[in-house]
Amino acid sequence: MKSKLFLMTLAGFVAATVVVGLLIAFEKEVKKQPRATAGSALGAAPQLAKEIKVVRGLTDLERECIACHAKEEQGKVRDWSHSLHARSNVTCLDCHKALITDKDAIDCPGTEKYDDVKITPIVTPEDCARCHPQEADQFKKSKHARTWHITADKIQDPWLKGMTNDVERAVGCYGCHGSDISDGKLTDLNWPNEGCGRKNPDGSLGTCTTCHTTHRFSIAEARKPETCGQCHMGPDHPQNEIYFESKHGKRYLAENSEWKFDVAPDIWEPGSDFTAPTCAVCHMSGIGPLATSHELSGRLKWESQAPLTILNKDRDGDKERENMITVCRQCHSRRWSENYLARYDKAIENYNENYFKPVKTRMDELYEKDLLTKWPVFDEEIEWVYYEYWHHEGRRARMGSAMMGPDYSWWHGFYELKKTYQHFIRLAEEVEKNGHGSPVYVPGSGGKNLTSAKIKPLPEAWDDVKHLTGRP
Ligand code: HEC
Ligand code: HEC
Ligand code: HEC
Ligand code: HEC
Ligand code: HEC
Ligand code: HEC
Ligand code: HEC
Ligand code: HEC
Repeated sequence: MKSKLFLMTLAGFVAATVVVGLLIAFEKEVKKQPRATAGSALGAAPQLAKEIKVVRGLTDLERECIACHAKEEQGKVRDWSHSLHARSNVTCLDCHKALITDKDAIDCPGTEKYDDVKITPIVTPEDCARCHPQEADQFKKSKHARTWHITADKIQDPWLKGMTNDVERAVGCYGCHGSDISDGKLTDLNWPNEGCGRKNPDGSLGTCTTCHTTHRFSIAEARKPETCGQCHMGPDHPQNEIYFESKHGKRYLAENSEWKFDVAPDIWEPGSDFTAPTCAVCHMSGIGPLATSHELSGRLKWESQAPLTILNKDRDGDKERENMITVCRQCHSRRWSENYLARYDKAIENYNENYFKPVKTRMDELYEKDLLTKWPVFDEEIEWVYYEYWHHEGRRARMGSAMMGPDYSWWHGFYELKKTYQHFIRLAEEVEKNGHGSPVYVPGSGGKNLTSAKIKPLPEAWDDVKHLTGRP
């Protein structure tokens, strides 16, 4: 994290570095050094350790960083040396330099001797923005960057209201959604973290390492479905599993070794470079007349992660749908593309009308009659069943239908919805009969309440539940 004072003009910089880039040669000296490992002691073939020496126009300070870290963290420096950044003279200091006044400025053993050199382990989208302003600007507007706000401010989310504790959030939620390091203090619970909406000390949100990991920062990696699948998977948003059971995923598996993944954006095109779409192709990449965008909402009509499917917020739906059809049209006919997505719209309607609305109405009735507590936590069994109904099964039915995954649409989706519906109705009848729900206590709860003060403070509410053996 560092301020813009450290700026250099990109245009001149790139022009200069293209030339430098071509002239660069890394002198790699391979020294035969058997590694002192148990393996070699036991007579296994000795492994060769490579030593990297950089000989080109770098400042002495930049050389120091690289030379010493090549001994400290070989893997990191080697990754960097294979990146376009290294070829373009973008060095450790370009990303890790901090101002003395930055909240996260520290010394490492190599910088202690300099009064005016500070570094930081935190490299934010703001730092990348110096040289990649357009990507950073689009990313800033995306849900990826804003996920913390969406999750923490959302009154409906039960887990942030005391149903989890700090450890569970750190090992779970924050791994995908990002942690809060805004005060620059790194603890074992908030750091390391590469979740997509991290709150950074410079006020920026998220991290580009969500899709371009250090220190390669490669577009080839970001274009592969496994990269997105790190987070877009599991029982509640199995886009990864759906992709790999779709025809598109099968094609990827069969042929991707022949694809070209490192072609520059906007000229990466089907046919010559790849033969089936990956996540990035449909949601981000420049394809046909569409430009690459790091803001991923522009091709989505629906919010199918919501309990009741609604149109993608702040958008009219039609334009976004036409954009997605434009993606399909690079490989399929108009009829094929339109029919498939119209079928998805029908699946949305089927879910909303036949499955979600009746169950929601029944739930509301029970709350209105005061048969269930209105605490914002799942203190009754029926609340768990209701949650999985829309959050797991309902999402699977919808997402399978959006992305060509019939097994998810049906067996993990509509089929499960039908089954859970029976369970839900039985529990609702029981609540009516008993005059109250069956109370449950949730172990591991009692964490800090992360949402608004309107809600009854926890863990007091949980203490009430814990001692309940029956209601009222
Ligand atoms: C293009 C920007 C960039 C360059 C160049 C760069 N880094 Fe990094 N580095 C990062 C990012 C991003 C992270 C992840 C930190 C984060 O999530 O905020 C990181 C993390 C690190 C970490 C801590 C993470 C770990 O795995 O231990 C070290 C150490 C590090 N870099 C050293 C270096 C060294 C040494 C160089 C030069 C050879 C270098 N970096 C070059 C961006 C860069
Ligand atoms: C003389 C050796 C040496 C030099 C020179 C050096 N470093 Fe370090 N650096 C280290 C060591 C040792 C660590 C601590 C590694 C560890 O904790 O495992 C470190 C840590 C770091 C970290 C990670 C801090 C963290 O908390 O994870 C970054 C980033 C870093 N150095 C960047 C730089 C940059 C940029 C330069 C050049 C200005 C530089 N280093 C120069 C030895 C050096
Ligand atoms: C000092 C300028 C500078 C900074 C800071 C910088 N980059 Fe770059 N980046 C470049 C240049 C120059 C290239 C090479 C452009 C080219 O050859 O087309 C590049 C290329 C890339 C590429 C394309 C790599 C590929 O495989 O085609 C990605 C992705 C990238 N940078 C991400 C990042 C991220 C993420 C950060 C912040 C952690 C960052 N960059 C920080 C200058 C910078
Ligand atoms: C580190 C985890 C992580 C990775 C990796 C990741 N995502 Fe996401 N993505 C999320 C989270 C979390 C959300 C939900 C944000 C929210 O609504 O709060 C999300 C939301 C989305 C959305 C919905 C956007 C919208 O406006 O409704 C799309 C589409 C998406 N991601 C696609 C991708 C693609 C494509 C990739 C890979 C190139 C990817 N994601 C990589 C975590 C991740
Ligand atoms: C494996 C990664 C992962 C973990 C772990 C995870 N999430 Fe998510 N979460 C996602 C993704 C991906 C989405 C986007 C789903 C979509 O749009 O299809 C999401 C969506 C959400 C949403 C809905 C946002 C919206 O747009 O309406 C909330 C709220 C949420 N997560 C909260 C949490 C909380 C709280 C935890 C921990 C208790 C958690 N998540 C754990 C990946 C994860
Ligand atoms: C959700 C995943 C994701 C995130 C997060 C992400 N990128 Fe990318 N990025 C991609 C993909 C995919 C491409 C390739 C686009 C294409 O195929 O047209 C790409 C391409 C790029 C390129 C190459 C552009 C060019 O013209 O050569 C740069 C530079 C880049 N990203 C920088 C960043 C920076 C900076 C951030 C953080 C602010 C970031 N990316 C965050 C997925 C991501
Ligand atoms: C063939 C194109 C295609 C591929 C490949 C694809 N998707 Fe999608 N995706 C779609 C369509 C179409 C929708 C629904 C768009 C709409 O709402 O109109 C969608 C919806 C989504 C959503 C939004 C769910 C919501 O909250 O409404 C996410 C997140 C997502 N995809 C992530 C991914 C990920 C991650 C991958 C790869 C593992 C992937 N997609 C692969 C076409 C694709
Ligand atoms: C890069 C090219 C490409 C793009 C873009 C693409 N597809 Fe495909 N799609 C294919 C290929 C190749 C197949 C397998 C063709 C076959 O079997 O005839 C396929 C198959 C399909 C199938 C048949 C699946 C089945 O199991 O019946 C459907 C449906 C489909 N695509 C819909 C779409 C939709 C909708 C979009 C846009 C959101 C899209 N495709 C985008 C290449 C693409």
